[in-house]
Amino acid sequence: MNIPFLDLKAQYSTISHEINDAMQQVINACAFSGGKYVAQFEEQFATFCNCSSSIGVGSGTEALWLALLGLGIGPGDEVITVPNTFIATVEAISLCGATPVFVDVNPESYTMDPQLLEQAITPRTKAVIPVHLFGQPADMDPIIAIAGKHGLFVVEDACQAHGSAYRGKISGTIGHAGCFSFYPGKNLGAYGEAGGVTTNDPRLADKIKMLRDHGQSQKYYHHVVGVNSRMDGIQGAVLSVKLKYLDQWNELRRAHARRYGELLQGVDGIVLPREMEYAKHVYHIYAVRVKNREAFMTGMAEMGIGCGIHYPVPIHLQEAYKSLKMARGAFPVSEQCGDEFVSLPLFPEMSPEQIEYVAEQVKAQVAKQ
Ligand SMILES: Cc1ncc(COP(=O)(O)O)c(C=O)c1O
Repeated sequence: MNIPFLDLKAQYSTISHEINDAMQQVINACAFSGGKYVAQFEEQFATFCNCSSSIGVGSGTEALWLALLGLGIGPGDEVITVPNTFIATVEAISLCGATPVFVDVNPESYTMDPQLLEQAITPRTKAVIPVHLFGQPADMDPIIAIAGKHGLFVVEDACQAHGSAYRGKISGTIGHAGCFSFYPGKNLGAYGEAGGVTTNDPRLADKIKMLRDHGQSQKYYHHVVGVNSRMDGIQGAVLSVKLKYLDQWNELRRAHARRYGELLQGVDGIVLPREMEYAKHVYHIYAVRVKNREAFMTGMAEMGIGCGIHYPVPIHLQEAYKSLKMARGAFPVSEQCGDEFVSLPLFPEMSPEQIEYVAEQVKAQVAKQ
């Protein structure tokens, strides 16, 4: 059996008429950059997240960058995040001219360990970016409490966590701002690049709206230096169609994850993901940990199964961040994750037979180790 890591065509085939129609409407209206289809999606996404504003931008990376800029983060400031993330979280900090500071992740949730946060705060710290990795929200209550005590902004990296929730609150609405990626492979994915910022702060929303559009609120009157990070009309229209299905798709992901859990429970040589008691996990990625990853992945590929690694090198050890002068050993949990993570195929359209086949092959591979 051949099972890809992700099958975007399978999803498209279930909604192709609606998608084609939505794209055609944008073309008919020539509403290509920003415009009414983006505004409509922004409203719908704010309603979905239960917050006052959502601002469509060019990508998740730009969502993080513009949120930080909107909060006034700049040179001389420090922003705390985790090394166990996609590099974009940290790039956004660097793009503002600020300095990234890391704290390690919790070994069970793989998200920011709140117990390590306070010791990383200095007089220069301005913000904290917890990352809701793989679709599981970070432990937000203690993070918000510590940030509040020190007067820090909290920007949630919810780029992998559309529709997940922390103690019943939708991810991206707990801190000062939430940042989303609508990259095609995400739980809510566009048909190109797109991102969004959510917030309950109307002043911050206005600032980000200005920043994404060359610092203007009225055409050709520029109040601040901004960028072009407007969302494409076609992406807004596609996202409006797909948002209607997000809860349903997330429930399928959760059901598939539960099934993997049942089939792989108690198998020696593999650590399964854990849904924390505070979390509604939406399994953007189903990452397990194995000791001999290379052999495991080769064996899975031979059996026709596409796996991924998210991510092989934690950010403090990336060449791009060698100026931070951090050595192996600085963040042991993130480093162990980098060494052992393997992501199994998980997408809403998977059949029960596909899940069973993957689980069988996982068992066969770990038995060989
Ligand atoms: C955790 C995390 N942060 C930020 C990003 C950046 O999003 P984008 O690829 O849309 O720029 C991603 C997307 O891959 C991500 O997974």
